[in-house]
This record gives sequence, C-alpha cells and structure tokens, in this order.
Amino acid sequence: MEVQSTTSNPPDTDADTVVVGVFEDEDVAHDTPGGQLQALLDSGEARRGFRKLAVQHAAGKRWILIGLGQRDSFDAEKARVAAAVALGRANELNTLTLCWEVPHHVGDEVVAGLVEGTLLRDYRFDRYKSGDDANDAPRVQKLLVSAHHDVSAPAASAVVVAGAQNEARELQNLPANDLTPAALSDAARGLATEIDGLSVEVEGREGIEARGMGAFAAVARGSDEDPRLIVLRYEPAESSGPRLGFVGKAVTFDTGGISIKPAAKMAEMKFDMSGGAAVVEAVAAIARLGLPVRVLGVVGATENMPSGHAVKPGDIVRAMNGTTIEVNNTDAEGRMVLADCLAHAVNAGAERLVDVATLTGAVVVALGSVNAGLMGDDDGWCAEVEAAARAAGEPVWRLPIGPDYADLIKGRYGDIVNSTAKREAMSITAAEFLHRFTGGVPWAHLDIAGVAWDRGKAYAAKGGAGWGVRTLVELARRAGASP
Ligand code: BES
Ligand code: MN
Ligand code: ZN
Repeated sequence: MEVQSTTSNPPDTDADTVVVGVFEDEDVAHDTPGGQLQALLDSGEARRGFRKLAVQHAAGKRWILIGLGQRDSFDAEKARVAAAVALGRANELNTLTLCWEVPHHVGDEVVAGLVEGTLLRDYRFDRYKSGDDANDAPRVQKLLVSAHHDVSAPAASAVVVAGAQNEARELQNLPANDLTPAALSDAARGLATEIDGLSVEVEGREGIEARGMGAFAAVARGSDEDPRLIVLRYEPAESSGPRLGFVGKAVTFDTGGISIKPAAKMAEMKFDMSGGAAVVEAVAAIARLGLPVRVLGVVGATENMPSGHAVKPGDIVRAMNGTTIEVNNTDAEGRMVLADCLAHAVNAGAERLVDVATLTGAVVVALGSVNAGLMGDDDGWCAEVEAAARAAGEPVWRLPIGPDYADLIKGRYGDIVNSTAKREAMSITAAEFLHRFTGGVPWAHLDIAGVAWDRGKAYAAKGGAGWGVRTLVELARRAGASP
C-alpha cells in the first residue's frame, strides 16, 4: 500500500473514503459539507466509544466515523487498533484510496500509530495459496494522512517500522522447508545490500565451530541444514549513547531433538526463529531510519533435529566463553544457541544487551499472549527496555532472577545444566542460564514465546506477529536521543 501525507482537507483529496475519528465528550471537528456525521452522532446512530463504526455517503465519498473513546487514554496503540478496524471496514466497502483525517491536537506517535495500524492490518500471508483459495478481493491501495500541519516525518518513519514488522512476520510465516538458516542469512544479506550503512557477516558450521561456539554447534549437529551465525552492524558516523547489542534466537525448526516434542503442535515450531527475525528486521529499520546510534545484531540460526549425529542427553559441551554445559534435555536448545551469540555480542563490543527469544513454554503459562517476559541483571536497563516496549505497544512484564534461582542450574559433571530436574521457574532458570554468558554487560532478556504468533490484536493477521521490531527500534530511538 502506498502512503502519502497531505495538508489538504479530506474532501479535496482524491480519496473515495474518508475516516473521521471522534472522541468521547467531543463533536466532529470537520464534518461533511452537509454536517451528516454530527447528525449521526446526535441521532445516536453513531457512537463515540472506542472502535464503534458508522458509515455515511456525502460529497461523492464514503465517510467512516469511528469512535476513539476518551482522548486522555488515546495513545499510539489505540491509534493502531482504530486504524486497523477502519481499514477492515474500508476494505469491505471496496475502498481504493482511504484518507484518515488525523484528530486535532494529537502527537506524532498517534500519526505513526494510524499509519502502522493500517499497514499491519493490510498484511497477509497468502503466497502459498493458489486458485480458489487465493483472496483477490479488491483492497485499499493508497492511504492518505491528512492533517493541518505537516505529518510527513512520522508517517514516513511509520512506513519503515510497519514495513519491517511485516517483513519479520513474513520470515516467521515461511515454512521451515523454505526458511532454512541459509535462507534467513540470505535475507539479512539482501537487506545489507539494499540499505546504506548496514553490513552483515555470516558464518556457517565450520566458522561456528572454529570460533569455539560449542553450545551453538551442538544444537546444529543434528541437522543436515548448515547453521548460520548472522552478525549485523550499523555504525553511523554520528552517534551517541552506548552500542546496543541485539541478540536473536532463530531456531528455524525446533523438533526438540533427541528429547523430541509431541506431534500435536510441533508445526508451530517453525516460529521458533521469531526473535532472530525481529532482530534482523529491527536493525535494518534502524539503519533505514538513519538513527544516530550504533547497533550490533547477532542472530543464531539453526534447526534442532534428532539424527545419528545429534547432540544427546548427557553430552557435555563447551561454550565460547569456556563454560561447560551438561545437555540433559536437547529441547532446551534456544539457551545454548543464545549462550554463544550473547558471548559473541560481548566480544564484538556490545555495551547494552537485549536478547529476544521464543525460549520457554512456561512464559506462555505465566503471562499468556499479552505480555512478553522481561528478565535482566540491571534495573536501570530493564526499566529502559520496559518503557520502550510500553511506548511501542508491546508490553512486557518483569520476572525476577537471582542467586537462589541460579543455584538450580548448577551442573553435576559440568559447570551448568541446560535444563533443571524440577519443573519450577522454568522461564527464570532459562534466564539464569543466559546470564552466564553476558560478561557483565547490562542485559535484558525478552522471552516472547507467548506473544510471537497468533496474537488476538485488531491489527494482527494469522501467524507471526513481528513482535519485538517496534520495541527494538524504539530503544534505538531513545538511546540515540540520549546525550
Ligand atoms: N521453543 C521452545 C519454547 C516454546 C514452547 C516456544 C512453546 C513457544 C511455544 C523451547 O526450545 C523449548 O522447547 N523449551 C522447553 C525447555 C525445557 C525443555 C527446559 C520448554 O519450555 O518446555
Ligand atoms: Mn526446544
Ligand atoms: Zn526452541
């Protein structure tokens, strides 16, 4: 979909449909020439409650009146949802060009939210649908964002951010036979070719082993697909703040390995690369936006498969930082991949760490698909991550870590175990495992197992949610803005 901003009044644009929002306790600011929208409200046929819709014909166009609820509580996330609801209705009306009249006195984040919500709702994953299953109903081709003042900057940045989130969703949704570790690294390379200032380095199995990444390599051993260590760098000439290290789990398919998973929902494990997809696309978006902050992205991509050369329960492997790991459950593979990727990010100069991973089923039990789990070792950094996530509309909830939990991962024969004997605090013990590889750099861990796909959001599509792209971009915005 094409997006343009304009300072023309909606009736003067070539849009065939206009969306007008109305807040509780307020009236329509710019009505149709005949005042039909206010009349709808006055008659009770249209309502101001959040997401309520009414449709009217006037001045040769269709008008969608949408309730925005209370002005005080209207934020970027509400704007995304409202825009998604409006787009759904506009598509039903066979709209081709849609014009959003931006409500008066809202901030740039609301303008961005309207554009993001529209583009996110527009996304669909239909490239494997053929014939009668293909959905080729007409849909909105162009979005105009009309405001009294120039909103081209927030609109353009929203196009980049929502575009990156949709690309992350596409990577998530691709089946594991097509999105192999090599295919993911090819996608990252493609972005580096396209985007100024973004560079990518890739290692395969030999390079991963040669670097001493024994934990990552152990997971990859069972698969015939070559694993990939994907390192993205964005180092603008002018930057401020610490170098951010974003680390992503990209297990392109998680069978569980020798500790194999039950068949029932195993197909969902094509989404086990969601954290890595978010990191690749977020770093690309940050570079596209030219944010003044240095960013390092490290993504570990591999399959987790059972086979004659797979890592076995009881095997002991040595990670890049020298720590020995007893692999007592080959299904706790994400932390092994991340261990070496975190250590690599530290070696490569990361000064703040955030890792993003579909790490534990336990976080789904604890927090559902509403909040991602946040764990970390630095209250200040965790607070910054939490604030960025909230502003991005991707809320997180902090869980504790600490020495009493760290005791649970002590090894019997090696330094640590990758899975505890007791089914207690499983998201937290996974974080304690990761903590052994962060080298004292302030670190925040986002367990996105519950939020990474099939989230019930107005702007969601089936499948991947692209969760994390907006949070990481927002973190980079804030880091770059700090002195
Ligand atoms: N990828 C899974 C976690 C997961 C489960 C994500 C369900 C999304 C939905 C991860 O590799 C895993 O298998 N974790 C195990 C760890 C256990 C063996 C210690 C888990 O959470 O059960
Ligand atoms: Mn697993
Ligand atoms: Zn996994």
